[in-house]
Amino acid sequence: MDKKLKEAINEEYRSAEHKAVRYFEALQNQLTDQSYVSSLINDFQTWKINHIHSPSILTYFSRKKRKPTVKGYRPYIEWLNYAGKLDNYLNRSISYLYMRDLGKTLSSQHTQERIDEVVNNVKTHLLKKDAKNDNFSVSSLYKLAKKEKVEHTMIFVLEKLKRVTAHIPSGMSVEHAQRKILKIIAGVLMHELEERRGIELADQERKCRLEKAIKLGFYYGITYPLIDDLLDAKILSKDEEKQYATLIRTTLETGEVPALDSWHGENKELILFIHSELKEAFEYMKLQHDDRTWKLFLKQAYIFFHSQEVDREKKLTNSTYSNEEIYIPVILKSSASRQIVRSLMNAPEDEGYDKRTFYYGIYNQLADDLADMFDDKKDGAVTPYTYYLTYHTTRKDLINPFEMYWTVISYLIHDVYQADFKTKEVILDRAINGLKRLKEKLGEQKYSDLMGIFTKRMSTFNRILQQMVEKADDVDFFDKLLRDHMITTLKENRREQEEFSEMIQSIRSPIDKMLPITENALLEKDIVTEAANYSLAGNGKRIRPIITWFMGVKEFELDNAQIVPLLKSVEYMHTASLIFDDLPSQDNAAMRRGRPTLHEVYDTATAELTGLFLTQKAIEEQATLQAFEGSIILKLIGYTTKATADMCKGQLMDLESRGKQLTLQELNTLCFYKTGIGFEASLLMPAILAGVSNEVMDLLKKYAYHAGIAFQIKDDLLDVEGEQKTLGKKSGMDKDNDTSTFVTVLGLEGARKEMWEHYCMALDLVELLPKKTNFLKFLVDYMINRTR
Ligand code: IPE
Ligand code: IPE
Ligand code: MG
Ligand code: MG
Ligand code: MG
Repeated sequence: MDKKLKEAINEEYRSAEHKAVRYFEALQNQLTDQSYVSSLINDFQTWKINHIHSPSILTYFSRKKRKPTVKGYRPYIEWLNYAGKLDNYLNRSISYLYMRDLGKTLSSQHTQERIDEVVNNVKTHLLKKDAKNDNFSVSSLYKLAKKEKVEHTMIFVLEKLKRVTAHIPSGMSVEHAQRKILKIIAGVLMHELEERRGIELADQERKCRLEKAIKLGFYYGITYPLIDDLLDAKILSKDEEKQYATLIRTTLETGEVPALDSWHGENKELILFIHSELKEAFEYMKLQHDDRTWKLFLKQAYIFFHSQEVDREKKLTNSTYSNEEIYIPVILKSSASRQIVRSLMNAPEDEGYDKRTFYYGIYNQLADDLADMFDDKKDGAVTPYTYYLTYHTTRKDLINPFEMYWTVISYLIHDVYQADFKTKEVILDRAINGLKRLKEKLGEQKYSDLMGIFTKRMSTFNRILQQMVEKADDVDFFDKLLRDHMITTLKENRREQEEFSEMIQSIRSPIDKMLPITENALLEKDIVTEAANYSLAGNGKRIRPIITWFMGVKEFELDNAQIVPLLKSVEYMHTASLIFDDLPSQDNAAMRRGRPTLHEVYDTATAELTGLFLTQKAIEEQATLQAFEGSIILKLIGYTTKATADMCKGQLMDLESRGKQLTLQELNTLCFYKTGIGFEASLLMPAILAGVSNEVMDLLKKYAYHAGIAFQIKDDLLDVEGEQKTLGKKSGMDKDNDTSTFVTVLGLEGARKEMWEHYCMALDLVELLPKKTNFLKFLVDYMINRTR
């Protein structure tokens, strides 16, 4: 079968190539006789009526309605709405997506109605009162998924996305990888929603199809950064690139992912990771198809991959490529990239779709390459533009890609879409917008020099064009705004995330150093202090004193040196709780913080006394907070002693729960008492010292409730899924002890969902805090993503 499949696939490639050659010839004819120029001049005559408004006295008075000077996602949308332009803006944007991504014709009444409907939905979503700056944050995605009852899939995908992007090697853009994957998921979802429109589906069926679309989008989406972008990024050595390309090619030709037996090169780790991810993705996709549609998908994927390979292997230093060699792979890869999505989804064949996306592809590619021309040239990549820029003075036979670009536009408008008014409108909007963006990116001078090179043979047309670029309004698109906004937010988020990680790293070691307790010199042997120091010296995460330090020093502006006793106090209380928890009479654990537990090294009696000793030490430390008033210290001690007492209640509830099936409510209460209160204390203790308002105290308590439970659920999950080496404690303890945990009550998937619920609730609370602290946002993020 392998051999036959391989032959069929190669045969398919040749036939796609023939089709591309015919298309190329048709374009070339129009380009040579320049007939496209007069059609386009005509088209612009009518187009400009809606886009060029001569200044009048009215414009003077409606100055407010001019473009806002502050750009940015939300202000811009608000301005559009205020200026009465939002409907049109969304309409052209959604129309464009329907044409480009869904292969629809805008002339159809049905499509128009559908577009109007989508425009209204998007508008409502964008203008919702509580629409924050970010309609696309992780928690809003989760909530959206929850509404459709597909939150499990969303969790799966978001967690995977984190894992995959964490492996993106330096030298590649993580944000672009994230954005592309999300974009492809959105694209597949759009196909799915369109496909089943008007069909009544039972809830279960609806849910299944949505889940499938999200997963397919994700699994297909990762191939962009992991295959194409990786090969473009020149991270692999030449030899590795070859091995990798062979791996992908063999997969597509045989329908099986070959095992990765040997790998020669420095990036073995990376490739091992990618191999396992792609294998999983490939096998999932395969399962969704029958034999026939799977072969169809493989063929499309092969055309896509192979044409890109052909392109990638070209060298800008080679001066002898023919026009066909330059353009055919472009036509092939750009049309395959669209068609593949439909075959991926197993959607019924649609000749109109195939035809339109086939013709459309090259336009899109030429538009992208136009924008990226100078980056591509720097990288030595061969695109129609970079090649022309390099050789246009010596190779008079070379096709001018800018002429080709406009030829394609004219061909689409007149030959493919029969000069439909709306189509013409949208395509020209997009093209003029592309040039506007290019001009902005390059600056006046560089842009005008470039146009000088490209428009030698079309000076009249160019004058009109540049006039449109200069003066036309209302040509911008929502997907571009969204793209810029996403990149900015993703970048900002990553920067803050890194700052958070660095901060907790850097504060850990000073905390470690302040913990040891001085032994009593009067005693010959101070065993209890020695034992306490043994427990404290393990590799604990110190997350509680880190919270206290951050809130105290950064949020409430307390003095760094003055709150040292508070930090020690927090960690002493916590370490004591661990010593008790590990005792044979409780969890009977032999390992903690990467070493044997205290009762293993000493004995049970010593461990018990050390636990008691540490809780007392915690209070002793608080009594030394000299910089604060006595009444405040009393309040603090009153609070912490009650907290410790409550934790005892939680721990006993936990022990009592063994072998029982708790309700979710009981489980939440138990976990709040045994774990949540510890986190609450680490937040409230500095708040008490700083004398913050009751309102803030309340919000912090609520936050601690959800974050604390999320932390414990992760602990329960790690007990099942984690590794002893990383955890520093033995996994599987809960099962051995028959302890009631979120996993035993809800199952792995249910526990994960419950963790996300608490995670999102904690995030919502951060939004309510008067001084919005990113620290608390990244803290819960860390809690649910930690590996130890
Ligand atoms: C473990 O706490 C006890 C639980 C509340 C689950 P940590 O996971 O913070 O333990 P250390 O301090 O890092 O050892
Ligand atoms: C511990 O819960 C709660 C405490 C506050 C001690 P666990 O028993 O699940 O903690 P680990 O897994 O032993 O760290
Ligand atoms: Mg326990
Ligand atoms: Mg335990
Ligand atoms: Mg545990």
